[in-house]
Amino acid sequence: MLRPTAPSRPPEGQRTGGYADMCDHSRLDVQKTVESARCDKYPARLHVRKVVKELGVDNGIIYLPGEPTRLYEDSDMGPAFRQRKYFYYITGVNFPDCAVTFELATDRLTLWIPFVEPRQILWFGSTPDASRAMELYDVDEVRYTSQLPKFLHANLGPSSPTLYILHPNQAPHVATLPRGSYRVDFLSLQPAMDRARVVKTDYEVDLIRHANAISSAAHRRVAVNLLDMENESDIEAAFQSICTTRGARDQAYAIIAGAGPNASTLHYDANNQPLEGKQLVVVDAGCEWKCYASDITRTLPIGGTFSTEGAAIYKLVERMQDECIAAIRPGTLYFQLHLKAAAIAIEGLLKLGILRGDVHDIAQAGTVSAFFPHGLGHHVGLEVHDVSGDDRLLLLTDSLKIEGGKREMVPPATLVSLLREAITSAATGRYKGRQVLEPNMIVTVEPGIYFCREYIEGYFLSSPTHGKFIDRDVLEKYYPVGGVRIEDDILVTPDGYENLTSAPKGTEMLNLINGDFQCV
Ligand code: GLY
Ligand code: MN
Ligand code: MN
Repeated sequence: MLRPTAPSRPPEGQRTGGYADMCDHSRLDVQKTVESARCDKYPARLHVRKVVKELGVDNGIIYLPGEPTRLYEDSDMGPAFRQRKYFYYITGVNFPDCAVTFELATDRLTLWIPFVEPRQILWFGSTPDASRAMELYDVDEVRYTSQLPKFLHANLGPSSPTLYILHPNQAPHVATLPRGSYRVDFLSLQPAMDRARVVKTDYEVDLIRHANAISSAAHRRVAVNLLDMENESDIEAAFQSICTTRGARDQAYAIIAGAGPNASTLHYDANNQPLEGKQLVVVDAGCEWKCYASDITRTLPIGGTFSTEGAAIYKLVERMQDECIAAIRPGTLYFQLHLKAAAIAIEGLLKLGILRGDVHDIAQAGTVSAFFPHGLGHHVGLEVHDVSGDDRLLLLTDSLKIEGGKREMVPPATLVSLLREAITSAATGRYKGRQVLEPNMIVTVEPGIYFCREYIEGYFLSSPTHGKFIDRDVLEKYYPVGGVRIEDDILVTPDGYENLTSAPKGTEMLNLINGDFQCV
């Protein structure tokens, strides 16, 4: 197939139609509040005002390009479209080749859209034209991108001397202006947007609630059908199928369906191994709804019943999760929840005989990281691992983020320093850089206990510091468990929390797997 070339001329007359309908109801049975919120426009102007408040300036122009159309190298095919989330935050627009400007002095939000020529419509359908986009989006004006360089040329200068952008490589083309007539600031905008994004608006909460409703239905379907499934791929297919038929084809991250030892690989995604002969399967999967993520993990016994060891580890992780969720309210320091989960894990693993020795010595050594090696959770929003503003939920640097930005690792030395910090901060009452939970933040609580032979043998059993605290013979019985993780998305409310995730877990999940189910 040939692709038409990029649009080059402004529109002649109006076109109707377009596929980006914000009020497109899918076949879902959710609360009326969610339905009505979905029918309103995405609150782009509210969001840009939050950004401006954080930016703390009253002059200049904010400029953000949306995601352009991309092709693979030497190919006329490209990846599935995924909007730039900072751009989406102040537009609600989910199609390629757009841009947005906000003029701070006049409080004017302008959406810049591509003009789509009729021959392109033949191949790809249409994105909204300017008049349809005005109806769909909460902006002050919609214009065509071909006019953008001229607009910037006319509006940057002595009266509006600063252009705020996210990154140097997102600087726009500006028709020639005298040198020094404006400056480009690529340092202030991203931190301001991160501070704005970390506390969700009610509209955003409803979108994440809806993503959770769909993902929870998909997890329910996996539980109901588990005994008929033979391979990890059946789980992936069942999950994806429910999301797709409910209008949420995009996943917030690659589905993880890891059985047996694969359950101990944190970001396993091959999802192609037989279930037979394995004890448990970890299913970590969450769809996006209108660009907003959900992030849910369930661990299911493959034959419908937990082994003795599997049940013990499931109960322990369940307790870690329940007690941490129960402690969520405004003012909670999230990093202390991680320490709470770690303390429960130490106590539980001592009881099971996997750990041995003095509880304080084990805590001081950080040995529990052998089994609970990652952070308790993260913010959820436009990204599954969403921005956290100036402060941090858990670690103060990015150096322990695995795979360039995913989940945080918590090795022993880090756990020990968190513990020390908790003690000294409690004495001084100062928690520099540590995030305190606020209403309308949404965080995951996702404790896990894993038996990854390579990790445990490579870094712990072979270490004089840790080896003495681990009973190898008892541990050997637990390797077949693989791993258990349970993960829910928790909204912080003014007086506590609301669990947005209704995917079955615990006894409800077991009943569903074994036939005591309702239709999904
Ligand atoms: N699904 C990725 C995570 O739980 O962080
Ligand atoms: Mn997560
Ligand atoms: Mn997850």
